[in-house]
Amino acid sequence: MVIPDKVGNDRQTTVDIPSLDRLTRRSIRSFVVRNGRTTDAQSDALQRLLPHYGLPYSDSPIDLAPAFARSAPAWLEIGFGNGDVLLNMAAEHPDVNMLGVEVHESGIGHALIGVEAQALDNVRIVQHDAMEVLENMLTAQSLDKVLLLFPDPWRKKRHHKRRIVQTDFLNAVANTLKPGGVLHCATDWADYGTWMLEKLEQDDRFMNQAGPGQISTRPAWRPVTRFERRGHRLGHTVVDLLYTRR
Ligand SMILES: C[S@@+](CC[C@H](N)C(=O)[O-])C[C@H]1O[C@@H](n2cnc3c(N)ncnc32)[C@H](O)[C@@H]1O
Repeated sequence: MVIPDKVGNDRQTTVDIPSLDRLTRRSIRSFVVRNGRTTDAQSDALQRLLPHYGLPYSDSPIDLAPAFARSAPAWLEIGFGNGDVLLNMAAEHPDVNMLGVEVHESGIGHALIGVEAQALDNVRIVQHDAMEVLENMLTAQSLDKVLLLFPDPWRKKRHHKRRIVQTDFLNAVANTLKPGGVLHCATDWADYGTWMLEKLEQDDRFMNQAGPGQISTRPAWRPVTRFERRGHRLGHTVVDLLYTRR
């Protein structure tokens, strides 16, 4: 079904919302499945480009090198939103295999449009729950960097169990990162920043690059994200946390 958007804007198409059981088997999820509206351009990109740039989710570990048609350092971005950072980093680091994981069609469509426009052949996208990707699809010590930028903060206390940064998450990241690899988290939600810091400081497998208990400011090489700009408009302070896998 085609729905006219605001006059002069791209039209929007209602696409099938991926069923939850196609995205995850976990009962507690860090994401919500939003409505399935994508622009015509995004739908077109999803159809044409996902077969090339998408990696189907696998319940068993895969070798990343054939998926990128080369061996190279691998960086994972979890919840890339519309893909601005994913694309920026892929363009800045052509020597890196950039793997992006996201669940939302419109964000993936947006990212794919950019991937094609910039001819970025070092990007692959998995449309699936990142927790299952980390736990099932990626092999031990296969990643050089994990980026978790502005994850959904799940502000209400009764929703804190949906925050992605939990013991299971740190176990999976510790397993998939190479020794010396980096976990980079950022948030503009102070309470979530404290939550992340507490969990990471208690975990001997990770070493805080800023020193014990310290937060980092945004490294110049980390692009500002869409959600970060929103945080700035709301007057929020942004916290970056960079930890090295021991
Ligand atoms: C608040 S947005 C931030 C997007 C982007 N990183 C930015 O800063 O603009 C969080 C994103 O993470 C995605 N997300 C949350 N949990 C996820 C999961 N378990 N697997 C994949 N994506 C997830 C959501 O769909 C959403 O697009």
